[in-house]
Amino acid sequence: MPYSRRGVLALGMTAALFALPACSSGANSNGGGSGNDKEVEVFSWWVGAGEKEGLEAMIADFTKKNSDIKFNNAGVAGGAGTNAKTVLATRLQAKNPPDSYQVHAGKELASDIEAGYVEDLTYLYEREGWKEKFPKGLVEAITVGGKLYSVPVNIHRSNLLWFNPATLQKAGIAAPPKTWAEFLTQAATLKSKNVTALSIGPGWTQKHLLENVLLGELGADMYTGLWDGSVDWKSPKVIAALSTYTKVLGFSDLKSAAADWQPALDKVVDGSAAYNVMGDWADGYLKGAKALKFKTGYDVVATPGSTGVYNFLSDSFTLPVGAPHKGAAEKWLVECGSTEGQDLFNPQKGSVPARIDADKSKYTDYLAAALAEWQNPQTKIVGSLAHGVVANNAWNGEIDTALQIFVQDTNVGKFADAVAKAYQANK
Ligand code: GAL
Repeated sequence: MPYSRRGVLALGMTAALFALPACSSGANSNGGGSGNDKEVEVFSWWVGAGEKEGLEAMIADFTKKNSDIKFNNAGVAGGAGTNAKTVLATRLQAKNPPDSYQVHAGKELASDIEAGYVEDLTYLYEREGWKEKFPKGLVEAITVGGKLYSVPVNIHRSNLLWFNPATLQKAGIAAPPKTWAEFLTQAATLKSKNVTALSIGPGWTQKHLLENVLLGELGADMYTGLWDGSVDWKSPKVIAALSTYTKVLGFSDLKSAAADWQPALDKVVDGSAAYNVMGDWADGYLKGAKALKFKTGYDVVATPGSTGVYNFLSDSFTLPVGAPHKGAAEKWLVECGSTEGQDLFNPQKGSVPARIDADKSKYTDYLAAALAEWQNPQTKIVGSLAHGVVANNAWNGEIDTALQIFVQDTNVGKFADAVAKAYQANK
C-alpha cells in the first residue's frame, strides 16, 4: 500500500508511534554542549544553483540568532548527493563526522541508524514540541525502534515533468502527455522536428526517471509493492514497464547526457529539449537562478500516469555520534525544525515545508499548487527510490550498478533479475 493520507498527514496519533525517552532534559542529556560550541560544521550537497539559495537563507537566520557561532558550510557539489555521500561515508567510517549532515528520511536514514552513525533526537522533539508539528507518516520515516533520529526540513516531490510552453507550441503539441504511451507518440513528433524529447543527466537522474516510469505504468499500489517485496520484479507488468522505460530513454539524449540536473534543465529552457523529469528543486532553479516566470517561462505537470500521486522525499538533518560541537549542532537542528527556518528555506528551494504550521502565504505559483496537493486528503503518497525513501543503502547501491548496465544493454529480464536478487540479499 502507498503511504496513506492519514499515515502521512494525520495528527494526534504521533505519540503512539514512539516511546517517550527515558530522559528529556536537553543538550546535556545527549552528551551535548561539550567542547567548543563556538562553531558548527554542517554537511550537505546544496552547493549549486537552485540548491544553495535556500540553505543560505536558513544559514543567515541561524547566524542572526546565534551570532557567537561560526557557521562552517561544508558542502560537496553534485546533485542527489552522489559525491557528497562518498565523502561523508569515508568521514563517518573514520569517526570524523561533521556536526550535522543532510540525509533523506526513510530507508537511507534507517541505514545510518543501523550503522550507529546518528544520535537519538527524541529529547529534542520533546523539548521543542515537534511531535505534533510534523505529519505522522514523515515521523514514521525518521523513527527506528521508537526513537527519532533526524529533523526534516522539507517535502520534495519527485514525479514532475518540466517543460517550456513555447517549445510545445512551436512543435504543435497542445498539452503535455498524460501517459507514457502518449509521451512516446509525442517523442516521435519531436524527433522529426529535431527536438530532443527528454533531456537526461547522470546516473541518479536515470534512476529518478526509472522510478517515475514505473510509478506511471504500474500505479501507486503496485509501485509501492516493488519496494517491500510484495510485487515480483519479474512479473509481466513490471517487465512491460521496464520495457517502456527503455523506449522512453531511447528518445532522450543519453549519449550526450548532461553533467548534472541543472544543465539537463537548461536544454528545456533553451528549447533544444522538450521535457525533463525532475524533482521540484527544479522550481527553485528555474524561478531563481534562471529568473523565469511560472506558466510562461516554464511549466510543470505530474509525470505521465501519476496525476494525484505525490512521490515524496524529505531532506533532514542529523546529530552524528561523536559530533565535535554538539551544543552548536543542536542549535542548527532547532533552526531546521523551526517555522522561520522552514519558511525561509523552502520557498527558495522549491519544496513545501515539513512542518504542518508553516506560513502558506509564502508559497506561491508552483509551490502553492504543490502545498495544496500535498495537503489534499485525496492525494496518494508514495516514496522515492532515487532519494532514499524506499530502499536501504545496500539495495540502492546494487540497483545503481545494475542500472548502469541496463541503460546500455536494455536487457529488461536481466535487470529485473538483478534487482530482485539484490532485494533478497539486502532486505
Ligand atoms: C535530492 C535532495 C534535494 C535536491 C536534489 C538535487 O536528493 O533531496 O534536496 O538537493 O537531490 O540535488
